[in-house]
Amino acid sequence: MTMTIDEAGRSFAVPASYTDETRLHEALALLRRESPVHRVDAPGYNPFWAITRHADVLEIERRNDLWLSAPRPVLRKAEVDAAIDARRAKGTGLKTLVHIDDPEHRVMRAIGADWFRPKAMRALEVRVRELARRHVDRMAGLGGSCDFAQQVAVHYPLYVILSLLGLPESDFPRMLRLTQELFGQDDSRSRSGGTAQHHTSVLDDLLTYFRELTAARRARPTGDLASVIANARIDGEPLSDFEAASYYVIIATAGHDTTSSTIAGGLEALIRHPAELRRLREDPGLLPLAAEEMIRWVSPVKEFMRTAAADTHVGGTPIRKGESVLLSYPSANRDEDVFAEPFRFDVGRDPNRHLAFGSGVHYCLGAALARMEIRALFAELIPRLTGIELDGEPAWLATTFVGGLKSLPVRYTMR
Ligand code: HEM
Repeated sequence: MTMTIDEAGRSFAVPASYTDETRLHEALALLRRESPVHRVDAPGYNPFWAITRHADVLEIERRNDLWLSAPRPVLRKAEVDAAIDARRAKGTGLKTLVHIDDPEHRVMRAIGADWFRPKAMRALEVRVRELARRHVDRMAGLGGSCDFAQQVAVHYPLYVILSLLGLPESDFPRMLRLTQELFGQDDSRSRSGGTAQHHTSVLDDLLTYFRELTAARRARPTGDLASVIANARIDGEPLSDFEAASYYVIIATAGHDTTSSTIAGGLEALIRHPAELRRLREDPGLLPLAAEEMIRWVSPVKEFMRTAAADTHVGGTPIRKGESVLLSYPSANRDEDVFAEPFRFDVGRDPNRHLAFGSGVHYCLGAALARMEIRALFAELIPRLTGIELDGEPAWLATTFVGGLKSLPVRYTMR
């Protein structure tokens, strides 16, 4: 099916675009080729420039003095932008790491950074492996067929991140619902389809929950990540309730839909490319490269945005101060100038300079954890899986931000 460049550009603002990967990648390839810095005027959204080439995304992320996360870190409907601007003016807007810039960002990021260093992650490996085993056991217990996305992939990263934060298991279902509604705002499974009012009510629920958590950990620190956040000090002062709550929100939300989408999408890619599954089974040493390829392939974070702090240009196109750019990670990760055969799923791809975790000062804080979780799950699953095939059509989440498979029906045999 053919499409115009403007139609291709508007796909970023149409949540359903991300439910049809073939058409989406057709649009992205067209933009990379014909209009890599493309102005998008989509109904219901403030205008933005779509950036689709790897080199341009990288350069914008590198220049964090020129390209700011505030006030528009992600693509939202204009009415949601306005509601968030109003909250910020009152001092009640969400201020997570992805919303702020230096010097505030550097100080806030340092609070959690030690927890997420690869060295610290290695100390958590035993716990993550145990959770991976539990979830693969659960799959084995489902009797040879399941919706892998719904029944396995979605629970595991949530368990990991909420266990690290130190939340009780009884609260996990509530967290799952709230964070999915915040991220998958545009899909029909959310209560009222991404309106400003709905966004605000989900946020309020999350903030209330985390405010109570801060109070509890201040009264009685337990050594978990929530205690580190609750008791952090900046210039000798504790974080405000609101700053602490914002910190939990980014950890709790960024940490699971991203990873679960990669795991579900990674399994789907292995099923559709049986030679790659065989290769991985025969050479488990490929697992780290395979996990990286799954992350590139799925690119669960569809975009982040930046706003120009001064008049500038990207790849020769002038951009004015105050205008915003949308960084398309799925597009950068299929860029023909960087990846040999970008549309081939290759579990041994090396090098693999994907941008799925972003780059620069906002580079994903949880990258080492996500890699460890993905490797741990497939390290458990692949040796036990004796056969697997699709058992129906997979379905993708309609979103403009974080997404991937919401349903992956599979039939399998396991030992
Ligand atoms: C930021 C992707 C898993 C925590 C980001 C960014 C991307 C991303 C693209 C923004 C980077 C930028 O603006 O340059 C992913 C992907 C994941 C994943 C693809 C899984 C495959 C996780 C996990 C955590 C996490 C498991 C753990 C809590 C964060 C945080 C930030 C972030 C806290 C904000 C960093 C900052 O602004 O300084 N992630 N993420 N992410 N991610 Fe992840």
